Amino acid sequence: MQAVILVGGLGTRLRPITYDIPKALVPLRNEPFIGYMIDFLRAGGVDGVVLSMGYLPDPIQEYFAGREDLKDFPIHYAVEDHPLGTAGGIKNAERYLDGEPLVVVNGDVLTGTDLSQAVELHESSDSLATITLTSVEDPTGYGLVEIDHDMLVRRFLEKPAADEVTTNLVNAGIYVLDPEVLHLIPSGQEVSIEREIFPELQAQGTLRAHISSSYWRDIGTPRSYLAASHDVLSGAVGAANGTFEYLSVHPSLVRGKNSKILPPVSVAAGCEIGHSASIGGRTSLGRGCRVGEGAVVEGSVMLDGAEVEPGAVVRGSIIGPNARVGQNAIVRGLSVLGAGCAVGEGNVLDQGIRINPGVVVPPRSLSF
Ligand code: GDD
Ligand code: MG
Repeated sequence: MQAVILVGGLGTRLRPITYDIPKALVPLRNEPFIGYMIDFLRAGGVDGVVLSMGYLPDPIQEYFAGREDLKDFPIHYAVEDHPLGTAGGIKNAERYLDGEPLVVVNGDVLTGTDLSQAVELHESSDSLATITLTSVEDPTGYGLVEIDHDMLVRRFLEKPAADEVTTNLVNAGIYVLDPEVLHLIPSGQEVSIEREIFPELQAQGTLRAHISSSYWRDIGTPRSYLAASHDVLSGAVGAANGTFEYLSVHPSLVRGKNSKILPPVSVAAGCEIGHSASIGGRTSLGRGCRVGEGAVVEGSVMLDGAEVEPGAVVRGSIIGPNARVGQNAIVRGLSVLGAGCAVGEGNVLDQGIRINPGVVVPPRSLSF
């Protein structure tokens, strides 16, 4: 069975990280996200994929070119020259599809759902489409799905207003589609599967639900990306091969005296941790990161080449590639630093502040 992975979105909510790295490649435990997606699909019986791409396709193709272990796993790339939306992106992949039922996934969901169960359910029904549902606390950021006692979808409402919320069940971004669904999508146009195709299938009574209670998270915001990173490190994901108290420290790590590493953590090649510095609380350090003397990094992700200078503290935040946190600065509360930016000495960043790539924040100029 083939799968289409939708990875063409701009990743707006994960900016500034996604100015430089497509959402599909943001790392979890130092493995690009799409790697988890491939594991999930293969575990569910998928034996070939089409990547439906638009924004920043090249680094994604380079990632797959480097995956020697996937050389017998067919991968095709359908690249849009302008955004075609979630249904248009599937239609654009059609030339690589075999005309059999197919799986479609949003390229930003981390899940331990049993995909083969959704496929079986689809095959045993006469519906044209089966969508997996998961429950969330606040459905307003998702596609809300009402079902009846036969698991037929009664209503599909993308991004409901707060007063339209009637259930906690939402679209998990995992579909099994009969090839006929592709006939409903016009070519070369921007079409949304959530706003146009699902309501149409629902009206025809041919959209069925598969409910999953497994781990599920959309990684598309700083909060959810960081939570996914924590979950992968603490083994909460199930299908993502997690082990509890994960500890992976590359042997090239240069460690200062009295430095502390509290698992679960992941440390990639070429990192340096200074004298009395500490990293822990579900932190990932990408390649070539540096943590200066006495600095503390907790519950955070540092991307390749990021640096935290002596005495600085980073908690629950995302430090972009080659970004620098100056001496004694404090970065906390879901702050996100873009690639190559520099936060000068003594600044305090908090409350989800985002610093764009390359920006230089002068010493002691920000204090929350
Ligand atoms: N090829 C292509 N072209 N892909 C696209 C495009 C496009 O124009 N626009 C978005 N995508 C991809 C994104 O890269 C992402 O992987 C996926 O489609 C979903 O887009 P998001 O922007 O992440 O959507 P969302 O999170 O707001 O909502 C969607 O996902 C929720 C579950 O996480 C919807 O499907 C909701 O109904 C669903 O609940
Ligand atoms: Mg999303």
